[in-house]
Amino acid sequence: LDNGLARTPPMGYDTWNAYHCNYDAATLMGTAKAMKEAGMLELGYEYIYPDDCWLAPERTADGKLQPNPYKFPYGLKPVIDYIHSLGFKFGIYNCAGTRTCAGFPGCYGHYDECAQQFAEWGVDYIKFDWCNVPFADYPGLNHKEVAKILYSEFRDALNRTGRPIVFSMCNGWDPDVRPWEWASDVSNLWRTTMDIADNYDVMRDRYEQNILHGDKAGPGHWNNPDMLEVGNGGMTTTEYITHFSLWSIMAAPLVIGTNVINMSETTKYILTNKEVIDVNQDSLGIQGFRVKHDIAQDIITKPLSDGDVAVVLFSANGGGVINTTIDEVFMDPSYPAYVLRDLWSHNETTVLKKIAAYVDAHAVAMYRIRPGKPSDAPPHHVIYWDSNP
Ligand code: GLA
Repeated sequence: LDNGLARTPPMGYDTWNAYHCNYDAATLMGTAKAMKEAGMLELGYEYIYPDDCWLAPERTADGKLQPNPYKFPYGLKPVIDYIHSLGFKFGIYNCAGTRTCAGFPGCYGHYDECAQQFAEWGVDYIKFDWCNVPFADYPGLNHKEVAKILYSEFRDALNRTGRPIVFSMCNGWDPDVRPWEWASDVSNLWRTTMDIADNYDVMRDRYEQNILHGDKAGPGHWNNPDMLEVGNGGMTTTEYITHFSLWSIMAAPLVIGTNVINMSETTKYILTNKEVIDVNQDSLGIQGFRVKHDIAQDIITKPLSDGDVAVVLFSANGGGVINTTIDEVFMDPSYPAYVLRDLWSHNETTVLKKIAAYVDAHAVAMYRIRPGKPSDAPPHHVIYWDSNP
């Protein structure tokens, strides 16, 4: 959506993966404080928002949405003001249907009032879900057609508020909606998959789905394979590094979904890797694409605005050596040599044409490749990997 927002993939925090419905004002404010202290705002994690369940079970007598009084005893305003005062932006969750996915009041039939109310509160981002949609009101139309109508209406309602609000559609979990086919002028991001879960197989499946729609992503309009599970305990550190690397190279929104108030050093190390985030946030906004895909090995490449190329070598099943070349990953092949900077170890190696790395099962190697001088190539690399450029 060309509203001037989300020119790079949105980054931030959503409560769902860590807390589901079990959070309150203190969770959100504590999260903002912890993110600020961890330097996450400066790294780009800008939008902080409650997912489902922030609402009271019913609207006010005059038909307005209201926060749950047990979770937000002083209302949302102090939370929003605090989050803004730290320099973050504030987001909100609601739904295109009559009720949210967890059953709280939705915006259906009230799109202008909802948008207006959110804008007055100072909302900067909205995740708009797709449950309890009254399809009977649209006889003869399929889910995709109804989604187009409703989300376009809500886009227009947001636009009428005059406030810049990032619009995140959460309807791609419905296999009939296929938002990547139609949403580039409706929203800033859209889900391409069913909900993620905190395990390797589901994470990998969401990657497999999302990578297919790379031609649909770009500044202002992004594919979203769902939020990050990094830190939640269901994957190994290796798998979380893989998860973060894949999301980064796919130019996916980087939305943290763990308890950052008590996050481990390992979780922080993964989520704050600036060199990996820089790949994600590159201004060209190209979603990384696969140049090789087989049962065991994926090679994903992402051209960057300064002429460098980011590459992920991914051993999706067993470990092994993954081989590629400068040409195969779409690096300009006219240079005499290249520096491979490993974005996780931060070591550099110079190669002439060939790239090879041993990659453990479920792991990645992630490089940023830039032009180099042949004299920088260490002899063992020239002999072992690159003797025959
Ligand atoms: C849907 C969405 C999730 C989350 C829940 C909340 O399942 O896909 O991301 O927002 O609803 O109920």
